[in-house]
Amino acid sequence: MTNMKKLFILANWKSNKTVTEAEEWIKEFGESRSQSQIAFENLEIILCPPFTLLYPLKTMIYYLSSIIKLGAQDISPFPNGAYTGEVSACMLKDLGVKYALIGHSERRNYFQESGKIIENKIKETLNFGLIPILGVQDKATPVPEGVKILLYEPARAIGSGVPESPEKVNETARTLKENFTKGSLILYGGSVTSQNAANFCRQQNLDGIGAGGASLDSKSFFEIVKNVSQI
Ligand code: PGA
Repeated sequence: MTNMKKLFILANWKSNKTVTEAEEWIKEFGESRSQSQIAFENLEIILCPPFTLLYPLKTMIYYLSSIIKLGAQDISPFPNGAYTGEVSACMLKDLGVKYALIGHSERRNYFQESGKIIENKIKETLNFGLIPILGVQDKATPVPEGVKILLYEPARAIGSGVPESPEKVNETARTLKENFTKGSLILYGGSVTSQNAANFCRQQNLDGIGAGGASLDSKSFFEIVKNVSQI
C-alpha cells in the first residue's frame, strides 16, 4: 500500500445472521485472508454484528483479533440499571468491543432516536472508553462533543444500489471536517460495493467506508478489503 493514511472499513450486518452463519463468515474470511498477500497495517476493519453475536464473535475472531475489531451497532443511552432491554456501554466494554455505531439513520427513523438520546449514547460510550462512530445524514446533522469519527450516509444511498458520487462525498466530507469536527475522520456509507469502495477511499477527505449489504457475504466483503488495501 502506498497510501499512508489509515483507512477504516466498517461492516454493518444490521439485523442479520445467526451464530452458525457468523461462524461460516469468519471461517471464510480467515481462508480468504490466508490465501492473500494483503498488508493489513494501514487498515482498521470494524465488524458490527447484532448484540447476540458479539460474545460468540469475540471467541471466533481470537486468531484474527489484530485484523478485525468489534463494534456495536447501538448502545444504551443509560448506565447499568433498570432499563429493560438495553445493552450498556459497561457490558460492551467487558466483551472487548472497541467501537459503537450511534445514530445510524435506521435508528433515527425506525426508533425515533432524538438528538438528546444520541447525545446520551455518545456520553455513555466515551465514559467507558469506547470509540463512538456517529451516523450523519447530511452536513446539518449535529455532532455532539467528543465525536471523532463520522459515518456519512445519505439516506437515499442506503440499500438503494445508487451510491453518491465519490466527488460529491469528498466535498461533503471536506465541509464536515471544516464545520464541525476539525481533525475528525469521515467514512462514507450507502451502497458501497467491492467495485466502488476503493474510489471512495481514494478521496482526499475520506478515511474509509461502511458497507451494509456488501458485508453480509464474506467473499464480497473480503474483495472490498483487498481493493482498498491496494490503494
Ligand atoms: P448499504 O448500507 O451498504 O446496504 O447501503 C449501508 C449502511 O446503512 O450502513
